[in-house]
Amino acid sequence: MKNIVVLTGAGMSAESGIATFRDSGGLWAQYRVEDVATPEGFRRNPQLVLDFYNKRRRESLSAKPNEGHLGLAEMEKEYNVQIITQNVDNLHEKAGSSSVIHLHGELMKARSSINANKIYLLDSDNPDIKIDDVCEDGSPLRPHIVWFGEAVPLMEKAEEMVRQADALVVIGTSLNVYPAAGLINYVHDGTPIYIIDPNEVAVSRGKINFIRKGASEGVVELKRLLKEEFNKKSKV
Ligand code: APR
Repeated sequence: MKNIVVLTGAGMSAESGIATFRDSGGLWAQYRVEDVATPEGFRRNPQLVLDFYNKRRRESLSAKPNEGHLGLAEMEKEYNVQIITQNVDNLHEKAGSSSVIHLHGELMKARSSINANKIYLLDSDNPDIKIDDVCEDGSPLRPHIVWFGEAVPLMEKAEEMVRQADALVVIGTSLNVYPAAGLINYVHDGTPIYIIDPNEVAVSRGKINFIRKGASEGVVELKRLLKEEFNKKSKV
């Protein structure tokens, strides 16, 4: 089976009602990154940060996967699909995708603030992290989110996945945030790249197949193009 590696961002979940970050009216127009998505912000005002992620978590708990998520899960019948997501929601898993790594962490998990390896699953019936919640090591519990300025522990794994790709698909990310945005440079020369996004995404790499559509419609188009690509190759 061909290896299809899919890098997703906030636009993947937009049709499920989850706000993106950098579109007009997106989250970063309403909050300052420094306040809610950095370790310094958490030290300065932990309540603000917990409230921000508690709200995101509640939104994501009530969200449903869209046709794009479902389409990617269905592609597993024909391809080995591996998803690398920057999203902290669990809509790929809810859609049934079996191989998903979360580069920027997961909303449904909390962790120790002094040991990144002490991770806990939150209870969906009681999902908020409270200001006096502590980890067994005595440190305050914090969201299991990779904040700006922090290392991205799954990067090496993601790079290796992209190196092994027979096709790379990028869906709903403005490719503004590194190191994730640099993953596109790990594909081998000649490997087809597809970008699904209703808006223009600036990339400086060889040949890219742009699918200027939202995630749901875009995944339908992607399936057609992949079929064409791989049938063409097997005839040569
Ligand atoms: N379908 C597909 N793409 C869409 C849709 C849609 N329905 N709606 C919007 N988009 C696209 C936008 O055009 C934009 O290119 O999704 C992209 C969203 O970009 P960002 O808001 O920058 O989100 P993302 O790239 O995921 O951000 C990366 O930044 O702050 C952080 O940690 C956070 O993981 C996040 C990272």
